[in-house]
Amino acid sequence: MIFFLDTGIVEEIRTASEWGIVDGVTTNPSLIAKTGRTQKDVIKEITSIIDGPISAEVLSVDVKGMLREAEDLATIHPNVVIKLPLTEAGISACKILAKQEIKTNVTLCFSPVQALLAAKAQATYISPFVGRLDDVSQDGVGLIREIRTIFDNYGFETQILAASIRHPMHVRDCALAGADVGTMPFSVMKALYRHPLTDKGLAQFLDDFNKSKK
Ligand code: E4P
Repeated sequence: MIFFLDTGIVEEIRTASEWGIVDGVTTNPSLIAKTGRTQKDVIKEITSIIDGPISAEVLSVDVKGMLREAEDLATIHPNVVIKLPLTEAGISACKILAKQEIKTNVTLCFSPVQALLAAKAQATYISPFVGRLDDVSQDGVGLIREIRTIFDNYGFETQILAASIRHPMHVRDCALAGADVGTMPFSVMKALYRHPLTDKGLAQFLDDFNKSKK
């Protein structure tokens, strides 16, 4: 499973990059707003830290505007992936960018048929929002499972990028459901390492070893 960090905070990206398991980064307008910096600045700095796909989202709602922004964002670095909303305009822009071999991430996906549209438009990634579906009593991981089945039925190459991941159980369940990628906040990625028995066992090993040297 490919791991992306879902953040605009470069300090988090620097720290996590040292762990050796971060394959890329996703951002969205809310995450960029939290940094108080311009999107271009943030994305540029991220590309200097992580050598992998970095999603940057367009703000336009019409095809022309989306393509104009995509062209501009693509000049930042070859690893930039253009993030487009799952709307008629977003899907049209996705198809046009696919023809130009520009990588895309279609975001705000909440149903299997929306994912099907993104796959037909040759999106590189489709981002189903697991946590936000759970928030409204719908089965977020179930959506990942259904998209996996549909994509396998037809051999679509669009990668399933499980987004809106809130805790380690989401990571486990999305991996079991066959998501290609999981994007998660820094806190969730850090939590993947934690198990009380690991801490307890390590303390015991070190204690036993140190006692034997006395
Ligand atoms: C995905 O690319 C989004 O940035 C993100 O996962 C949204 O997560 P949230 O629902 O926690 O805001």
